[in-house]
Amino acid sequence: MKITYLGHSAFEIETKNGKILIDPFLVMCPDYKPEGITDIFVTHAHGDHLGNAIEISKKTGAKITAIFELANYCSSQGATANGIGLGAWINYPWGRVIAAPAFHSSSIDYKYNGGCPCGYVFEIEGKTFYHAGDTALTGEMKTIGELYQPDFAMLPIGGHYTMDIEHAVKAAEWLEVSAVIPMHYNTFEAINANIKDFERQIRELGKMPVIMGVNQSIEI
Ligand code: NI
Ligand code: MN
Repeated sequence: MKITYLGHSAFEIETKNGKILIDPFLVMCPDYKPEGITDIFVTHAHGDHLGNAIEISKKTGAKITAIFELANYCSSQGATANGIGLGAWINYPWGRVIAAPAFHSSSIDYKYNGGCPCGYVFEIEGKTFYHAGDTALTGEMKTIGELYQPDFAMLPIGGHYTMDIEHAVKAAEWLEVSAVIPMHYNTFEAINANIKDFERQIRELGKMPVIMGVNQSIEI
């Protein structure tokens, strides 16, 4: 599969049987063309995660997977959406996904109830990875490590609204991942983070920091 970083917490995952977007907030890559997208995962309703999901769903027919209340909101806006809850595997032609708890908030237009926030664990083509969404460090990450044994994780490191570097490094330890892709940093001033510090601390743990530039892809 091919993973492309689209900036902030947004990723495109190209698999043999489908093309996935996660949290498609695309201000960092305005020229990105969402073509052939089959599924969109949204971790919570905040604008920097819901992003262009509704518009892309309406244009391409891609199905949005999100927590029930947020999925209902997406449907009410004309998108195709599948409302789910935390804690059960959901099957797709390209693999399976489970929504995991996130410690954060989730509001539509920063005002209306968007249900609970979540992260997602993906199992695709023999690899398991965890996209944490926006969250504080939580003991749930030990459970995610024990239950799903992810190979790698996308973790927020920008602080202020989410984990900072110190807590993201602890999360990497608890998740027992071998590699971490940092996200949700340096998009705006409140979440500025020193990526060199993150890189050094993850290496000191014996894990691999995978710092992705916007529009950069990796094959795994
Ligand atoms: Ni948020
Ligand atoms: Mn956010």
